[in-house]
Amino acid sequence: KFETKVLVLTGIAIMVFIFCILYAMGHRKSDVPECVPFDKSYTRPRINKIDDSTYQVFSVARMWAFEPAEIYIPAGSRVDFYVTSLDVVHGFYIAEKDVNMMAEYGSITKTTVRFEQPGVYKITCHEYCGTGHQAMQAEVIVN
Ligand code: CUA
Repeated sequence: KFETKVLVLTGIAIMVFIFCILYAMGHRKSDVPECVPFDKSYTRPRINKIDDSTYQVFSVARMWAFEPAEIYIPAGSRVDFYVTSLDVVHGFYIAEKDVNMMAEYGSITKTTVRFEQPGVYKITCHEYCGTGHQAMQAEVIVN
């Protein structure tokens, strides 16, 4: 019967949803990149200081730059990066920190990184995005 089929399909769809939610909840505990619901405010590049060792960085990628381009933080800081793009798909790569993410238009990717050692950590675009791709980078300067 048609109705039975519809009911069964609806049931399966609901179970898939529940599975996805549980899966996402399990992931939230770790530092793997996560998706955050998109909001226009994330397209404004900025650094928020929460306290002396906790920062939020709203990193905005576009052809061919990241903003903010220089991020100064003290050693021992924890930084939540919220990354988005204003145009095409860009990469967001911090080699020393094993951060490997995408910056996409209309969506936010989040990850948390701890910077214990002073130094300059390069953020580079590792997704080919046009003629300026090679030069597309930013720096986290840890003092
Ligand atoms: Cu942006 Cu490559």
